[in-house]
Amino acid sequence: MSSEYPIITWKELIKHFKRSSLWVVIEGMVYDVTTYLDKHPGGEEILRKCGAMDATEQFLEYNHSNYARSILISRVVGQLTNEPQPENYFQLLKQRIQRNPYKEITWEELASHNTKDDAWIVIKDDVYDVTEFLDHHPGGMKLLLDKAGDDASEVFQRINHSQKAYQIMCELQVGVIIGIKPSRKQKQVPYNYVLIIFIIIVFFLLVYLFLL
Ligand code: HEM
Ligand code: HEM
Repeated sequence: MSSEYPIITWKELIKHFKRSSLWVVIEGMVYDVTTYLDKHPGGEEILRKCGAMDATEQFLEYNHSNYARSILISRVVGQLTNEPQPENYFQLLKQRIQRNPYKEITWEELASHNTKDDAWIVIKDDVYDVTEFLDHHPGGMKLLLDKAGDDASEVFQRINHSQKAYQIMCELQVGVIIGIKPSRKQKQVPYNYVLIIFIIIVFFLLVYLFLL
């Protein structure tokens, strides 16, 4: 049955937990139930909690009828990959669900999102999760990755991004940055100069006192 269906990876599945696109997995098949949510006799809420997850157990637990199964047929998206669920899948899903554009994020937290699999950047105090956008950025992945975990305001401003770019940013925002940006390594030279001058003064003072 299944080989004719596209294979859905975990990476693809995890994107569909939202009200605007909700997929669930039942017995290894992935279904798009977005437009069924408000029609579900068991209620919308219960289905939303299964977004981007394997809901087989819950589906069987409520002893759904053949009619319920017939509804599923027209909503098949594909077959879930045979690859095991990534270990941090629920953690990643939770992070996405908790996305809140006003969440306060420290510079320290920002700095921990600095890899290809988890890349956040700051542009003018707003924090964006660009992980999924890396492959799609018309300006290339590298420019974004270079700034992962860091402030990209300056480089961003150099390019005249379009309205479309700003719309994409709205969807990617995960919070706002708080606190003071840690400064780069302090230049030691001025302190060294002060110390040297201080030592010279003390030296000459001692010589002067000695000669008196
Ligand atoms: C994703 C595909 C699903 C479809 C198409 C579906 C469809 C239906 C349908 C048609 C009914 C009416 C009874 C029946 O004909 O079986 C029903 C009832 C119900 N469903 Fe689902 N369902 C789905 C998933 C789920 C899941 C994942 C849960 C639990 C987490 C759930 C919980 C319930 C409950 C609690 C009822 C009982 C409502 C009642 O008897 O008051 N459903 N569902
Ligand atoms: C979340 C942040 C970003 C989004 C959503 C975004 C989106 C886009 C989009 C949609 C375009 C196509 C042209 C347009 O519509 O404006 C573009 C082009 C470009 N972006 Fe970004 N961008 C982001 C961050 C950055 C950053 C940090 C840089 C760093 C320098 C950058 C550099 C570029 C460059 C160089 C182009 C031009 C590509 C070309 O015209 O050949 N972008 N970006």
